[in-house]
Amino acid sequence: MDDAVTMDKIVALCKRRGFIFPSSEIYGGLGSSYDYGHYGVLLKTNVKAQWWRSMLSERDDIVALDAAILMHPRTWEASGHLAGFTDPLVDCKTCGQRFRADHLDQLACGQKPSKHPGEADVCELTEARDFNLMFETTIGPVRESGTTVYLRPETAQGIFVNFKNVLQFSRKKPPFGIAQVGKSFRNEITPGNFVFRTREFEQMEMEFFVAPAEAQQWFEHWLAERERWYTDLGIRPDHLRMRPHDPDELSHYSSATSDVEYRFPIGWSELEGIANRGDFDLTQHTEFSGEKLEYFDQASGERYVPHVIEPAAGADRATLAFLVDAYDEEEVEGESRTVLRLHPQLAPVKVAILPLVRKDGQPEIAKEIHADLRRRMQAEYDEGGSIGKRYRRQDEIGTPWGVTVDHQTLEDRTVTLRDRDSLEQERIVIDALGPELERRLAAPWQSPKLSG
Ligand code: GAP
Repeated sequence: MDDAVTMDKIVALCKRRGFIFPSSEIYGGLGSSYDYGHYGVLLKTNVKAQWWRSMLSERDDIVALDAAILMHPRTWEASGHLAGFTDPLVDCKTCGQRFRADHLDQLACGQKPSKHPGEADVCELTEARDFNLMFETTIGPVRESGTTVYLRPETAQGIFVNFKNVLQFSRKKPPFGIAQVGKSFRNEITPGNFVFRTREFEQMEMEFFVAPAEAQQWFEHWLAERERWYTDLGIRPDHLRMRPHDPDELSHYSSATSDVEYRFPIGWSELEGIANRGDFDLTQHTEFSGEKLEYFDQASGERYVPHVIEPAAGADRATLAFLVDAYDEEEVEGESRTVLRLHPQLAPVKVAILPLVRKDGQPEIAKEIHADLRRRMQAEYDEGGSIGKRYRRQDEIGTPWGVTVDHQTLEDRTVTLRDRDSLEQERIVIDALGPELERRLAAPWQSPKLSG
């Protein structure tokens, strides 16, 4: 099936249906900052919940952590971010704009007929210089005598500095992992493409500590696991690929990295990085803090610095990928409809309960059904507007099931159950609704776009 999706359509749908808005819009917005509305919050919360589920509920070798965003500044010396977390920046003396030197061929500078910065005769680009991406702030009431701290550019370091704490309380031993979800901040030179690259974003990172000899085997394990996570949640396999980094692309800490890439409308782009970080982080923090970060195996008498395998995903980027993959348009009985074919587990609302008309006792029964279903799953009651309009609205927010109360309901306590994707409607007795919807929600699912 051809993809109808474009980034502009996703941005428009997100605004129209209350998923994501430009931040501080009444002041003209703040470049590349976004606010999540009701359905966006529900969707991203579901994405994160599925990630936690795969890390915590489905296995017993990972524990959770929620570290502070502001960390001791020495953290960033040890991690290498203070010295090396930079992008090359060029200024244009003509138009005053700044560009990432390694992205010039993907950027437009606004000069006509120039396409890329530096191409027009009038363009005057400076030499590239390194620009540190960390946001700086000050702790203490007086700026001059305060301590400079940084908004964390990744959640990972909060995990490494807590290695000893977690080892002591959790009674885990390698192989084991520490998982964290939280905000990170990067002063990106060229953010863009909606929530794909922003300056404030949420990461879902897990650091898996293993015996050095087992690092490669666990690296491969996590490559397979993370790929499966996306496809189990409905991402079409032909829109997902694993791309190993070339040696010259590797971060300073990594001996091997593979990106999970998704085929966005902007082209194949990184969704998640899976890195073999070796013993770089624990060794660095040992050196800078003086605390030994190692593991002593009492059974074998062996002492070693564990190696780390890190699957590092972005919650906003994953949410965008799920939206893009789900977006569809089709003709139904001469009318076009837009529908988000989201995996039911991710859908912001699982079921909408709609009285056909706002009279004859139908709203009362619909509200009764809503009261029952909302205890089981995210459910929404909607009585405003024509039934067609209400279906379209639910289709656009990706609600997989619709329950309609009509005149027959008052006679035999049955309702129609509508399926978002097949548009089939079946009659079902009210008492069977809850168990049936729970069964459907738990069932394996694949994108109907695959069979289209
Ligand atoms: N601890 C390793 C690390 O942070 P990364 O590849 O820089 O690795 C991991 O980031 C993930 O975080 C990326 O794959 C992406 O999903 C997300 N991410 C990174 N920078 C982002 C940005 N500026 N906006 C949105 N998401 C971002």
